[in-house]
Amino acid sequence: MGCFLCTGESSMDRKMERKNKNNINNDRRRRDNHSQQVQDTPRSNPRDKIVKEDSKVVNHSDMEHTTNDVPDSSNSSCDGDTKDVKARKFTFSELVAATQNFKDEYFLGEGGFGKVYKGHLQDTGEVVAIKQLDRNGCQGIREFIVEVLTLGTADHPNLVKLVGYCAEGEQRLLVYEYMSHGSLEDHLHDLRPNVKRLDWNTRMMIAAGAAKGLEYLHDKMKPPIISRDLKSSNILLGDGYHPKLSDFGLAKVGPSGDQTHVSTRVMGTYGYCAPDYAMTGQLTFKSDIYSFGVCLLEIITGRRAIDNRRCAAEQNLVAWAKPLFRDRKKFHQMADPALEGQYPVRGLYQALAIAAMCVQEQPNMRPVIAHIVTALNYLASQIYDPNIHPGKNPASRRGKNEEEECRHQAY
Ligand SMILES: Nc1ncnc2c1ncn2[C@@H]1O[C@H](COP(=O)(O)OP(=O)(O)OP(=O)(O)O)[C@@H](O)[C@H]1O
Ligand SMILES: [Mg+2]
Repeated sequence: MGCFLCTGESSMDRKMERKNKNNINNDRRRRDNHSQQVQDTPRSNPRDKIVKEDSKVVNHSDMEHTTNDVPDSSNSSCDGDTKDVKARKFTFSELVAATQNFKDEYFLGEGGFGKVYKGHLQDTGEVVAIKQLDRNGCQGIREFIVEVLTLGTADHPNLVKLVGYCAEGEQRLLVYEYMSHGSLEDHLHDLRPNVKRLDWNTRMMIAAGAAKGLEYLHDKMKPPIISRDLKSSNILLGDGYHPKLSDFGLAKVGPSGDQTHVSTRVMGTYGYCAPDYAMTGQLTFKSDIYSFGVCLLEIITGRRAIDNRRCAAEQNLVAWAKPLFRDRKKFHQMADPALEGQYPVRGLYQALAIAAMCVQEQPNMRPVIAHIVTALNYLASQIYDPNIHPGKNPASRRGKNEEEECRHQAY
């Protein structure tokens, strides 16, 4: 490989630039169920990727095959050591046929690595999402390989399924199962008119499912994997809003044996990156826990991880939330106004308590994923019925008993 930095600028910088340019276009062009044109909404640049590196010293060892690279990413064609990969290999013409030559009508959206189209596989009739990597980015090639090797060997109901890939000539495409409700991000922020706001129960079900996906990566995969890019746009929603984690192009094999961390370049997305990892480049499983905490905060508050349209004190979600975590009377201010007060008070407190633990400065203070799964499974099992406990926003109008119950049982 060895082509992270093809020019003076980093490939991540190029990705950021493309993304910034594309955010507006994405919203303009993103379509629901491949027909309806959607309305523009002004956006900040919440998806800005970060990469921190010494601009004078390019650490090529990180680009080459290291013990913490996901399986074997040294083969840039993806034709080699893919024996454990269950994904199917497609020809480019099969994917051209599936998307009617990448017809505009099938365009779903665009991320840092290229455009995503809805497709219909001609032979099986399967509906898929096809991500075409932008051939201008060297980083994309590496991430393509890591994605195939990680997702191609994974199998869990809360990880998006990689149906296959195409590595033909210059073309690099990834074929995923189609997720009918798009990304969690689409359902939390700047809701388009045809997108339903998520109710409390659905939010908790999504949080619990996403945690299970992460638990699979951290605790069940062999070797265990750190995602490094967990964020609401990478939590995809299928039928019934069933959540699945996606995008493992930045994944790394986690520390093992006596290792406490993996030393690597700082990569990820602004607003989601753990401060300890951003400062030191020392990646741990707890880096993902921080990112998960940010996602959980987004789910509870409906706010973006980074929102440049807000006043300075509120632009960074975690920075805004931290002082509020200290005052239980302010917890209601943190609930997404789109919920219109329809949430269980105790459930809100408990969900916020989990999020607060995940975004702690000290990585060793953050819980492990298995404990988060247990807590969120419990929360998701506590079905809230708005007819029994109708919304009573603002907090001051809340029933005394309910508040008291919270005080005793929130923690
Ligand atoms: N499997 C899928 N099914 C349906 N829609 C998908 C699927 N994968 C991606 N999309 C849609 O395509 C769009 C772009 O996704 P993509 O992962 O390329 O970008 P991103 O997550 O916004 O940014 P990043 O490149 O940092 O991951 C998203 O809006 C997402 O909803
Ligand atoms: Mg993504």
